[in-house]
Amino acid sequence: MQKATLIGAGKLAHHLGLRLTQQGVAVNQVYSRTKKKAQQLAKLLKAKATNHLEEIESGADLYIIAVSDSAIEIVAAELAKTIDPSKAFVVHTSGATLSLVLKPYFKHYGVFYPLQSFSMEKEPDFTNIPICIDAHHKADKNKLEVLAHRISNKVFTINDEQRAVLHVAAVFVNNFTNVLYQSAAELVESKNIPFDLLRPLLLETALKVQAHQPKDMQTGPAIRKDSNTIKKHLSFLKKEHPELFLVYLQLTQLLYPDFKP
Ligand SMILES: NC(=O)c1ccc[n+]([C@@H]2O[C@H](COP(=O)([O-])OP(=O)(O)OC[C@H]3O[C@@H](n4cnc5c(N)ncnc54)[C@H](OP(=O)(O)O)[C@@H]3O)[C@@H](O)[C@H]2O)c1
Repeated sequence: MQKATLIGAGKLAHHLGLRLTQQGVAVNQVYSRTKKKAQQLAKLLKAKATNHLEEIESGADLYIIAVSDSAIEIVAAELAKTIDPSKAFVVHTSGATLSLVLKPYFKHYGVFYPLQSFSMEKEPDFTNIPICIDAHHKADKNKLEVLAHRISNKVFTINDEQRAVLHVAAVFVNNFTNVLYQSAAELVESKNIPFDLLRPLLLETALKVQAHQPKDMQTGPAIRKDSNTIKKHLSFLKKEHPELFLVYLQLTQLLYPDFKP
């Protein structure tokens, strides 16, 4: 694949577009409904910018729909009126969306889902980002595999059913752990202790699971079945942070199912 078109100019489109161009895949056009955003990203990628889907040109090897999940189908339906729906190869980049949303509109469709959390503040290291691909036709899947290997060393074929589970798991390891960090920060800061004291601990746990199974690395009062300590923690939370009482209890019972408060 030599030429791609990016539909969307958000975080994913920005980082993926940069990586594709670095790796020799030209981005022909960038579409964003916000003209300025299309122009900004297109300038970086030396591509053409448009804020009109009807201006999307035919002839790209791949059309990458990288818009908000709720807009994927709306955009696909509009795009199919402009490019040839029997020839164009169109993918979306969403972990939470079935590839089948593209089926009513395009003969060649698939998914190109980089499993990482992207933000504008941090440059991602694509070589270690798993790229989860799938496509309806085998030949298309092969093309995506070759493309994915150009930008990452970790490429996996993941079907719709698997990707739905993977996305739930990603919420656990990313969003839920982070909200627990946030709760921990509020706990310590309420006693004038800086969150910095906890950073080495959380890093150590994250590093350990790079080489071991999470269940083998579990420590703490719940896995030790230390009911006295757990009860002390629960009574403190009930009094001072009642919003965290049930969270603590349910996570404890995940580790120590027989625990009764
Ligand atoms: N960010 C991540 O960490 C990440 C990781 C893996 C996969 N993804 C997937 O990548 C896709 C894009 O996510 P993102 O993080 O890049 O989102 P984002 O930064 O919020 O950008 C969303 C893009 O979608 C456009 N958009 C929203 N609604 C639209 C509509 N009705 N019509 C046309 N364009 C619309 C936005 O345009 P405006 O700027 O004009 O609003 C913007 O270009 C999503 O499917 C997401 O699940 C994201």
